[in-house]
Amino acid sequence: MIIHLSMHSSIYPSIHFDDRGHLWRSLQEGVCYGTRSAIDALRLAGLVDDSSGGSSCESTPPVSIAVSGGATRSTMFLQMHADVTNMTVVVGTFDNAPMLGAAILAAVGTNQFKYSVSKGRRRRNSIQLATFQEQIDEAVACMVHEMKRLHPCPIASQEYNRLYSNYMHFTAQVEDLSRALATNTTVDYRSMEESLLMPSSPSSSPLSYALQSGREAIVMPSILAADFGALSAEALLCEDIGAKWIHVDVCDGNTGCPGALTVGPQSVAAIHRSCPQLMQDVHVVSDNIMPLLQPLATAGAARITFQYEQVLQMDMPIDDSNRYFDECGVTATSIGIDYKLYYICRLIEELGMQVGVCISPDTPIEVLDGLMMLHKKADKDCLLIDNIDVLAVNPGFGGQVFNEQVLIKLRSIANRYPMLKYLSIDGGVNAETALKAAEAGANVLIAGSSIFGKNRIISDGRNGPLKSYQQLNTILMQHGL
Ligand code: DX5
Ligand code: ZN
Repeated sequence: MIIHLSMHSSIYPSIHFDDRGHLWRSLQEGVCYGTRSAIDALRLAGLVDDSSGGSSCESTPPVSIAVSGGATRSTMFLQMHADVTNMTVVVGTFDNAPMLGAAILAAVGTNQFKYSVSKGRRRRNSIQLATFQEQIDEAVACMVHEMKRLHPCPIASQEYNRLYSNYMHFTAQVEDLSRALATNTTVDYRSMEESLLMPSSPSSSPLSYALQSGREAIVMPSILAADFGALSAEALLCEDIGAKWIHVDVCDGNTGCPGALTVGPQSVAAIHRSCPQLMQDVHVVSDNIMPLLQPLATAGAARITFQYEQVLQMDMPIDDSNRYFDECGVTATSIGIDYKLYYICRLIEELGMQVGVCISPDTPIEVLDGLMMLHKKADKDCLLIDNIDVLAVNPGFGGQVFNEQVLIKLRSIANRYPMLKYLSIDGGVNAETALKAAEAGANVLIAGSSIFGKNRIISDGRNGPLKSYQQLNTILMQHGL
């Protein structure tokens, strides 16, 4: 897919203005950030298909931007566009696009492309009248030529991605001033100064992310309820409404989640490419988790939260699994479920991801005691597990009813493991149940349907998710421990 954009100017002070060169560069970066926000808006509207038209090469982004106009004469400016948008920039041989468009229409209007030749296999080629669309396509093919392509540099793209979120904060803060300047009205400078001093999220109202006890407060949209045809755009939306984490269910449709076949490492990678800052908590419901660990780490998962009941069924050949025997005092004959858990946790940790374990509503928390003991033996001074995800519904499906029995379990986990960083409640979380879970000790609310709504499509927009996200955040901040 090719997107045509015209550039507009805006200025953003991303660097100190030591000299005129810095000022000029900042102006150019401002234009590039403007282009990126236009592309993000198209993504949100579902008009950018990140998966189509690309090569199979991982490092080449699938969507390209066609650029025209005088600015195309500056290679540096074009490269900056490629880096800021993380897209390939395509430049044509003729830089005046409006004139070229007019020439194409004139050529078609004067019947220069009236006929098309259809090639028969047996008969000789036949000439026939072309439709209007065919004439345009033919004229474009003859008159539009690509001159060069500039690919984004991954390191620069990553850095610009970080700066872009500053830019989004900044533009939100000076919105009133921009509007006043454009309409020649008076600006309320005092309130603007006050708002510039206040930290804020990219969404309109600033949110806090720490409970009174100092524990982190996290509202995590579960993308199982998002529009699956536009996952990258939905992830961008989550980031835009203020989310730092999203919950991604990787379910294999097997015994733990019959019929729930969701996404895999490729989707995690696609989301990570669009939103590298957004942390993905990947909930794996599979009784064959081992082959998924490395691909998920490569795809950019920040954490793997595995489903406890599925690991119970896992077959573990001793040859592969004896690598941590010494550190936790296990031998080939004493290998059991606790060591299976330990083994998976350590593999996830070694792959550079956080470790989470998810337990279904009927599973008591005591099942993790053995794992914790092994960990103690291994003489670690922190918990091996970063996250315990307490499911209040059956795994694999959204929109189920919250099982209130799990509130007792939340309380007991909070008491048992005061060092635990994240205690998540997952499934059936809405304003009412979130309050109860927060009071019981959860500091992470995972919510699908209550954030995205039912039968969501991307064109439903951001207002619903923004409102629900902020409401859950307020509840967690007011009632969390
Ligand atoms: C179930 C998932 C949940 C699910 C929750 O496997 O872990 O995150 O998406 O969906 P809702 O919030 O709709 O109950
Ligand atoms: Zn899940």
